[in-house]
Amino acid sequence: MQNFVFHNPTKIIFGHDTIPTIGPETTVYGNRVLLVSGTGSAEKNGVLRQVRESLAAATATVIEHPGVRSNPVLSHVRSGIELAKKHDCQVVCAVGGGSVIDEAKAICAGAVVAHDVWKFFTGKKSITSPLPLTTVLTLAASGSEMNSGMVITNEETRQKFGFGNKKLHPRVSILDPSTTCTVPLDYTAYGAVDAIAHVLEFYFTTLDPHTPVQDRLMEGLVLNSMESCNRVMARPDDYQARADLMWTATLALNGLTGAGLGKVGFPMHMIEHSLSAFYDVAHGAGLSVVIPAWLRSQSSLQPERLAQFARRVFDCRGEDTTLLATEGIARLEQWFAAVNSPTRLQQLNIPARDIPEIATNALALGKVWRIDGYDQERIEAILRLADGNSSTPEC
Ligand code: NZQ
Ligand code: ZN
Repeated sequence: MQNFVFHNPTKIIFGHDTIPTIGPETTVYGNRVLLVSGTGSAEKNGVLRQVRESLAAATATVIEHPGVRSNPVLSHVRSGIELAKKHDCQVVCAVGGGSVIDEAKAICAGAVVAHDVWKFFTGKKSITSPLPLTTVLTLAASGSEMNSGMVITNEETRQKFGFGNKKLHPRVSILDPSTTCTVPLDYTAYGAVDAIAHVLEFYFTTLDPHTPVQDRLMEGLVLNSMESCNRVMARPDDYQARADLMWTATLALNGLTGAGLGKVGFPMHMIEHSLSAFYDVAHGAGLSVVIPAWLRSQSSLQPERLAQFARRVFDCRGEDTTLLATEGIARLEQWFAAVNSPTRLQQLNIPARDIPEIATNALALGKVWRIDGYDQERIEAILRLADGNSSTPEC
């Protein structure tokens, strides 16, 4: 157990019929509100109507910034920043999934500075005092509703970079699981994969050999991600299943699992973000291809850790650590396939000849994120493990 400070300032209001609280929870920070939303789902399922009514009842003046697309792009962030500055917005309200919330965070940060917002993502500028943010979450996946991270794609440089600062935590997030009942099964599965990835990034990169508290918490979150996703697959309008998946995804990346682990990293995300930047694949779909490959690249490096994961999450039995490690990875990959999340680059229509360019792009993010131990060759080897046509090269 390493020293740690755990402080998560985001207030969570969880449950059905909670959306009407967004108005008063937002106008406490000011009446000129920039309302950020996606490309249509929140309009269609009535969530945006409820949010508008609540903001109006709280006497907010609302300026709308719709059209955030999945894998949000810098050009749309910049137009949101211009709108926030033009109307002197005092607070931002995001209604949507991780893409909408992340873009809203970037707008909060960029609306109060004169320099370009991308400078935050390349480490050239640090966050000072971003606008306050409130959110209504509509998709269980990223954890952005309760964390300090944001991920934006610079279309000109084809870089999808993540950046975090504790001042970016939403002040309040409304989590009403019924809003996710309209999420199609593919994005439901991608969200569960993303939550599993957030846990595995820490589970397999901590250097501390003795973390029993965090291990059980993380193993439980992986199990809950799979079990609640399975229940949603069986009954998409199962409120309790949607509630379990929503809270699991939030807990998977709100800082709790990492407390006490010491230094951890995001090597799987480092690689996946290049897939999303180049091919605009859904984040979770990219991860279900990268995760098994990255885990296989770890087989000879941490067989005991992989064997513990196999025993505790999939109840694999046996004494042979190498066999257990292999079986655990295979069982996770089988679950990805069972919920129709891709497990090979081919399924994302990504040709093997692009692997070198993808690796170079991922390496650039690895440098910004200070992820040690990865070079061009190693990332290419991991990507070849994800390429169904390659034999299993050594990593
Ligand atoms: O734009 P709309 O119409 O809302 O459609 C969205 C989008 O097409 C749709 N959707 C969202 N809520 C819905 C719904 N459809 C029906 N009913 C609803 N209730 O789902 C699609 C995907 O939405 P998106 O927000 O892109 O998904 P997600 O929540 O998985 O967010 C993905 C983004 O989060 C970033 C990823 O990089 C990616 O850009 N991440 C953010 C992190 C963070 N801030 O900590 C960490 C994550 O690792 C991740 O990198
Ligand atoms: Zn993620």
